[in-house]
Amino acid sequence: MMSDIEKIYYSSEELSAIVKKLGEQISFDYEGKNLLLVSILKGSVVFMADLMRAITVPCEIDFMCVSSYGNSTENSSGAVRILKDLDENLEGKDVLLVEDILDSGRTLSYVISVLKTRNPKSIRICTLLDKPERRVVDLTADYSGAQVPDEFVVGYGLDYAEKYRNLPFIGVLKKEIYSED
Ligand code: IMP
Ligand code: MG
Repeated sequence: MMSDIEKIYYSSEELSAIVKKLGEQISFDYEGKNLLLVSILKGSVVFMADLMRAITVPCEIDFMCVSSYGNSTENSSGAVRILKDLDENLEGKDVLLVEDILDSGRTLSYVISVLKTRNPKSIRICTLLDKPERRVVDLTADYSGAQVPDEFVVGYGLDYAEKYRNLPFIGVLKKEIYSED
């Protein structure tokens, strides 16, 4: 798997420092609130697992699985399907959406429009990575770990064709891997 990697953007150590900082900010901001972390599957699973342990205030967790149509590097056509909905009631909750990467913004803007109808007290976004150049909807993350340029990155939960999620760092694959199919 390592031989498929062209370059590393964020090492495992750098990711730990990024997550620690986000955890501190969130813990400060959500003191005394009703925090519900909502992990958007599957990409945010690794980030979620680390982030929740960096948060020192009480919180609940839940998971939602959404899928956008289209192939894997040009992911978001705009159409979003809910594959697994939340288990928890959102009434009065301070929802924090935990996402791997904010790209066009279509996925989260759809998710937010759905969740807003369920009367949460607040909804905010925490994304590990942000690709601001790619945005097509007006959406900014309340918490953002790091920015990446307009390149398709993998690792730490992020996939290419469902692979590479288990890499402990964020990196870019060699060109020939992306062009194989
Ligand atoms: P958006 O709706 O365009 O913001 O899409 C966000 C989703 O697209 C993320 O949750 C990822 O699943 C996927 N995605 C966008 N960019 C990348 C990338 O560089 N690597 C892996 N997945 C990505
Ligand atoms: Mg995703």
